[in-house]
Amino acid sequence: MIRQTTPEDIPALIALAEGTEVFKPLEVVALREVLDDYFAFEHEQGHRSLTYEHRGCPIGFAYSAPAAMTDRTWYLYWIAVAKLSQARGIGTELLRSAEAEIRRHSGRVLLIETSSLSHYEPTRRFYLKHGYEQAAVIRDFYADGDDLIVFRKRMLSP
Ligand SMILES: CC(C)(COP(=O)(O)OP(=O)(O)OC[C@H]1O[C@@H](n2cnc3c(N)ncnc32)[C@H](O)[C@@H]1OP(=O)(O)O)[C@@H](O)C(=O)NCCC(=O)NCCS
Repeated sequence: MIRQTTPEDIPALIALAEGTEVFKPLEVVALREVLDDYFAFEHEQGHRSLTYEHRGCPIGFAYSAPAAMTDRTWYLYWIAVAKLSQARGIGTELLRSAEAEIRRHSGRVLLIETSSLSHYEPTRRFYLKHGYEQAAVIRDFYADGDDLIVFRKRMLSP
C-alpha cells in the first residue's frame, strides 16, 4: 500500500536508506534533516513524500518537491526500497505514484539527480526503463571520478 509519509515512519525510512548500502553516511544524515524539515515546514511548501507499507512496515519511499524559481519543474530528491524487497516492482509503483502526484500538481518536467558510480548502475537502468532521458552530466561533481547525472522526463506534453 502506498500512503503519505508520517513522522512515525522516519526511523524506518532512515534505516532502509542506510540498508540499501548505496548512500554515503553524509547522505543518510541529510535524509534525516530532509524528513524532519518536511514535517516542520516543507510539507506546507508543496514537498511530497510517499511511503510504501507492507504488513505495517515502511519498506520504501519517494520524496519530491517543486524546483524553486522554475515554472512547475520538480525534483525527485529521494527514492529507495529496502534491500531485501528490491527488484519486485515496488520502486516502479512508488515512482508512478510520485509522477501521478506531480502531474496532479501540474508539474511539467521531473528531474532526478544521481551518481555515475558503478553501484548506481541498476538505479540508472531503473530511470531509463521508466522513460527518463540522461539530460546532463557534470564531471567530478560529487568527487573526482564521481559525476552528477541528471535524468529528465516530461510530466505534461509541451
Ligand atoms: C532504484 C530502486 C528505487 C528501484 O526500486 P526496485 O523496487 O528495486 O525496482 P523495480 O523492481 O520496480 O524495477 C526493477 C528494475 O529496476 C532496475 N533495478 C534497480 N535496482 C535494482 C536492483 N537492486 N535489483 C534489480 N533491478 C534493479 C532494473 O532495471 C530492473 O529492471 P529489470 O528487472 O528489467 O532488470 C531500488 O532498487 C533502490 O532503492 N536502490 C537503492 C537506492 C537508490 O539507488 N535510490 C536512488 C538514488 S538516486
